[in-house]
Amino acid sequence: MTAAVIDGKAFAAEVRSRVAAGVAGLVAKGITPGLAVVLVGEDPASQVYVRSKGKMTVEVGMNSFEHKLDASVSQDELLALIAQLNADPAVHGILVQLPLPGHLEEAAVINAIDPAKDVDGFHISNVGLLATGQKSMVPCTPLGCLMLLRDRLGDLSGLNAVVVGRSNIVGKPMAQLLLGDSCTVTIAHSRTKDLKEVCKRADILVAAVGRPEMITGDYVKPGATVIDVGINRIERDGKQKLVGDVDYASAAEVAGAITPVPGGVGPMTIACLLANTLTACCRANGLPEPEGLTA
Ligand code: GUN
Repeated sequence: MTAAVIDGKAFAAEVRSRVAAGVAGLVAKGITPGLAVVLVGEDPASQVYVRSKGKMTVEVGMNSFEHKLDASVSQDELLALIAQLNADPAVHGILVQLPLPGHLEEAAVINAIDPAKDVDGFHISNVGLLATGQKSMVPCTPLGCLMLLRDRLGDLSGLNAVVVGRSNIVGKPMAQLLLGDSCTVTIAHSRTKDLKEVCKRADILVAAVGRPEMITGDYVKPGATVIDVGINRIERDGKQKLVGDVDYASAAEVAGAITPVPGGVGPMTIACLLANTLTACCRANGLPEPEGLTA
C-alpha cells in the first residue's frame, strides 16, 4: 500500500481563505480583527516565524501589531506591554513568541495575557477549559491536526488514537481534542514500554516527540492515518534537510494516509493562529463564531 498524502499546505490555504471571508464580514461591520505578536531578542528561527505570521495576518485582512523587544528587557517591562495589549480594544489576539530568554519567567508572562486574547491557548485558564470540555482558545498546532483528521476521516468517534509526545504545546492538548471527538486516546512518550506495539494499535497516530524519523513503518497499523508534527533539521549526505518525527518512506508503505514534512502540519499552525484570532474577535464583539474554524 502507498498512503494518500495529506496536503497540509493546500488545506491551510483553504483555512486562510475561510478566515479572510470571515474577516471581510467583520470589516463590513466596522470591526477589523487585530493580532499582536511580541518577539523578545534576536533568535533567527523566531524572527522567521514572526515575519511569516505578520505577512499572513495582513493577507487575510487583519491588523498586525509587532512588538520587538531587546533580549535584555525586564520581566516588569514585558508585563507592562502585555497589560497595555490586554487593554487595547484594537487587539483581539496576543502571541508571545517562545522561547523567551532565560531570565524571563515564561509561565508568568503567558498567564498575564487576557485568556480571551490568548490565541496560543497556553494560558492556564484555557488549558483548564479545554481539559473540562468547555469553550476555550485551543493551541494552534493540535487544532490544525484535528482539522486535518476531521477532513480526512469525518467522524473520529470510537477510533484508537495514539499521541506520541506529552508536551504542553502539542501532546497534551492534542489528546484532549481527540478525546473531545470521542476517540479512545493513549498518550505515549519516551518512557512508554513496548512503544512500537502501542503505536501499532492506532487508527490515528500523531507523532510529536521531536526525534527525527523515529516512527518507522513497523510502528504503523496498516491503513492508519499518520500525522507528523515533527520539524527536525538534520544533515544528510552533506546537505541540510527538514524531516519529521516519522520516517516518511517506510511509514507511507503501511499507512492509509500521512502528512509530509514539510507541507503537512507546519502550514496549519499559522492558519489556525489566524482562525483563533478571528474567533477571539467574534467572541469579543458578541458575534457568532466562524464555522469549521474551532474545535
Ligand atoms: N514558538 C514555536 N512555536 C510557537 C507557538 O506555536 N507559539 C508561540 N507563542 N511560540 C512558539
